Amino acid sequence: MRCKGLDVVLFTVASCTTCIAAITVPTTAPSTASTIDSSQVAVSLEFFAFPGYTELVSTETCLANLQALRGAPVAVRIGGTTQDRATYDPSLATPVSYTVASPTDAPTSLTFGPSFFTLAASDLKGNVTIGLNRQLNNQANTLSAAVQAKNSMPNMYAIELGNEPDLYASTSPIVPSSGWSQTADAASEKSWFTAIAPSVGNIFQAAVYLSWRTTATIPLLGTSINNVRSVSEHSYPQSACNGATTDLSTLMSHSGIVSYTSGFKADAASAHAAGVRYFLGETNSATCGGGGISPTFGAALWIVDYVLQGALNGIERSYFHQGTIGDCQYCWWGRFTTGAPFYGAYFVSTFLGTDGAKLEMLDNGTGAVASYVIFNSAGAPIRLLVYNSNYYDATGTRSSTAVSFTGGGIPSAGTATALRLTGPNATSRVDEGGIVTIGGGVTFDGNCNVVGTETRENVVVTGGTLTVSVQASEALIVYL
Ligand SMILES: *[C@@H]1O[C@H](CO)[C@@H](O)[C@H](O)[C@H]1NC(C)=O
Ligand SMILES: *[C@@H]1O[C@H](CO)[C@@H](O)[C@H](O)[C@H]1NC(C)=O
Ligand SMILES: *[C@@H]1O[C@H](CO)[C@@H](O)[C@H](O)[C@H]1NC(C)=O
Repeated sequence: MRCKGLDVVLFTVASCTTCIAAITVPTTAPSTASTIDSSQVAVSLEFFAFPGYTELVSTETCLANLQALRGAPVAVRIGGTTQDRATYDPSLATPVSYTVASPTDAPTSLTFGPSFFTLAASDLKGNVTIGLNRQLNNQANTLSAAVQAKNSMPNMYAIELGNEPDLYASTSPIVPSSGWSQTADAASEKSWFTAIAPSVGNIFQAAVYLSWRTTATIPLLGTSINNVRSVSEHSYPQSACNGATTDLSTLMSHSGIVSYTSGFKADAASAHAAGVRYFLGETNSATCGGGGISPTFGAALWIVDYVLQGALNGIERSYFHQGTIGDCQYCWWGRFTTGAPFYGAYFVSTFLGTDGAKLEMLDNGTGAVASYVIFNSAGAPIRLLVYNSNYYDATGTRSSTAVSFTGGGIPSAGTATALRLTGPNATSRVDEGGIVTIGGGVTFDGNCNVVGTETRENVVVTGGTLTVSVQASEALIVYL
């Protein structure tokens, strides 16, 4: 297809198979632009595995890399299924204690001691949210853990009481004889917040649901919303549980991501209306082992678009979960080289930068090609991002889309620069030898150190129009 007005450009863009005619970039941030949090990309660490993560060099390096790109430390949540299997032992000398049959198993029961919290204070630089147990219905034990956490962690942001209570078994100790429901859970949350807040303050992260919607819980909390700092929902767009099938092209589809993340908009709005923050407190691509799609380059591209769409829908932070070390398909690092998904986290953090303040989408959300603009705090457009979500799995020819921009900050003629995130195909895995690169030369070694140098491409501006070419399953940042 040939696009009107692009004749000049078509000579310089090789094998253009599709073109998107000029998109106008606003000159100043519109009032509808979304605010970007300094830890829009955040990390969740599975509760029992947290001490083990502090022993991996990659944990510190990966978090430091993202901090450098954003100029602010990464917020970390420590929690997950095993928070609801954990009992605090104030006399335990080690951070955690448990027994498992195989090193890649998660424990069915564990204890943790005071050094769990001193480790969280010493090793994590950003806001830390700690997930404690509610499922076992031992409120005195959780209260003593919460007090110890509060007293040892200057970086404490919030405390969760229970993880995914929507999935509690009817035999869970917390479930009353009258049964479990969202209403029963909200009453339980309210009574626990009321009991524990006087000792630690109004710092709770409420809900922590996987399937229930948080909007319904807020009125059920009543005045206990005053004990709450943030509302958390968990999100895995795909699942490999119980034989469910996963699909990479669906995961990374821009229109699919737009549609999926819009499902959180009402929940975010209700939290904000109640005066509390709204986070995806635990998220990643596919639950139950990732179904083969989680460690891929396509999942890296998904992260880029998913983080930005989250922000547009009022999700202030997305905490990407890192599970059992050594048995975790969606993990960014662990006992394998730095995985392909980390490249997506790094790239979207590069786009948001130290100066990104407001975000706007420039496409209509129904096509395969996404365009975004980020504005600085003065409201000036500073960078564009183009994501071509057309699926390339190495069969057939890799298509390419030319996208043109005019307006906001683009000069009438000259040269701009661009940074490309690319890989051999969407199914490529860094841990299987696939080479994903940022700016042509940057990769990460097994300890998450940056290897190589980023090179920005030149982009010609002609007649006030800037045109870039982005291949299927690729993303590009343009510096204005
Ligand atoms: C959370 O992080 C921000 C940014 O680093 C910092 O200003 C704030 O003090 C932190 N809050 C807590 C409670 O740690
Ligand atoms: C959305 O944009 C695409 C081009 O990117 C266009 O083909 C389509 O008609 C637009 N849809 C709507 C509803 O505006
Ligand atoms: C996709 O790229 C990887 C290398 O990263 C390669 O191993 C794989 O064979 C490619 N897929 C196909 C279908 O060729």
